[in-house]
Amino acid sequence: MADIAVIGAGYVGLTLAVGAASMGHDVTVGEADPDRVADLMAGHCPLFEAGVGDLLREGLASGLLTFTTSNTDAVTAAEFVFLALPTPSAADGSANLSVLHAVVDELAPHLGERVLVLKSTVPVGTNRDVTARLRAADCTAPVVSNPEFLREGTALADFMRPDHVVVGGDDAEAIAQVAALFDPDCPVTATDPMSAELVKYATNAYLATRVMMANSFADLCEALGADIDAVTAGLGRDHRIGPFFLQPGPGFGGSCFPKDARALLDLAADHGLDVPILAAAVKVNADRQERMAEAVLAEVAGVFEPVVGLWGLAFKAGTDDTRESPALRIGELIADRGATVQAYDPEAVAGDSIRLCDSALDAATGADVLVVATEWPEFAGEDLTEVAEAMRGDLVMDLRNLLDPEAVRAAELRHRQIGKPEQE
Ligand code: UDX
Repeated sequence: MADIAVIGAGYVGLTLAVGAASMGHDVTVGEADPDRVADLMAGHCPLFEAGVGDLLREGLASGLLTFTTSNTDAVTAAEFVFLALPTPSAADGSANLSVLHAVVDELAPHLGERVLVLKSTVPVGTNRDVTARLRAADCTAPVVSNPEFLREGTALADFMRPDHVVVGGDDAEAIAQVAALFDPDCPVTATDPMSAELVKYATNAYLATRVMMANSFADLCEALGADIDAVTAGLGRDHRIGPFFLQPGPGFGGSCFPKDARALLDLAADHGLDVPILAAAVKVNADRQERMAEAVLAEVAGVFEPVVGLWGLAFKAGTDDTRESPALRIGELIADRGATVQAYDPEAVAGDSIRLCDSALDAATGADVLVVATEWPEFAGEDLTEVAEAMRGDLVMDLRNLLDPEAVRAAELRHRQIGKPEQE
């Protein structure tokens, strides 16, 4: 077992820290925000992610997990120093690396021969830049890129049982050590730093494009009277394609796909290159949310003081995250046009223009149209007869194809789904 420092107790850093401690590694987390450190030391998990809170408390109890506001203290005993720092989008779409650079400069005099591991998603070339920064400060620590592929909602499971591990660096021994740290049986792509960094962007770009394709096929199904479920089932059974990431919906969102797509496009442009299919995915995705908001507004066009019920605000089920959430964006676009939007989400909260409700039934009460925007399983279990009685109108726009069409029909509601003929 190793001594590990994790710098940054955000989503990625915290999942890594509690997961590593649960495997028996000795983990010290450096986090700049003193309130967050106090919360974590008291066993309060600041984010909603399955299993992380329990492992946090186990790690504190076993003594294998500690938190400090001092990054230099965090690295003192460490053999490996993982950087899991925020890299937000700058105005031009590129990733803002100022926090990462500041921490590298701060740690350079204290790293010695410790292995510095870049976990945050960073532009291709960052490993070499960080290495140059360290060398300029007379630090000889090897730098290894080890991108994360954690999905929100299943981050811990993804950490414990990854499909694969990518490690890139110029020091073969250091990359082998990092690869061996967590799951020795997992397939490893050991490569140069640039390629390791690009794998992360390529994965998210590819998956975002897949979702965009599935959504475009769903639009075609609606226009042609075909059924998207049959189309994606057939697509997914071709082993060259596979069945995952073909679920149509209101578009991709979250903290990674949109941001990483913009960062990759920015990076390509810096090298005089275009990635037209990715640019199209970003544009089609943004347009889609506007189109969906328009479709809802068209349904209430003649209604005096229209009310729209919104089920879901998070960008997907299983998280309270509303960053670049299609559900939130669609709700805000509708509210901006003067309709009352009343929303319920089991975990996420709304912006100012949306009225937050305490239950799914509350959000449906008095609504002219009910929009299902996030695929929380509990929405599928709602009593739709009760919902129908509470609504003013009778249309459910199911942007996730979540509700059982039979149950919607039995409640005498009209059901509009993505990529399917309308059920009257
Ligand atoms: C993603 C990557 O999967 C993960 O590997 C990376 O490290 C971080 O970004 P996450 O943002 O948690 O994870 O969400 P993910 O489950 O991948 O979904 C991304 C978006 O695509 C969501 O808005 C989701 O609703 C949408 N999506 C996904 C679909 O619309 N259809 C699908 O079939 C799959």
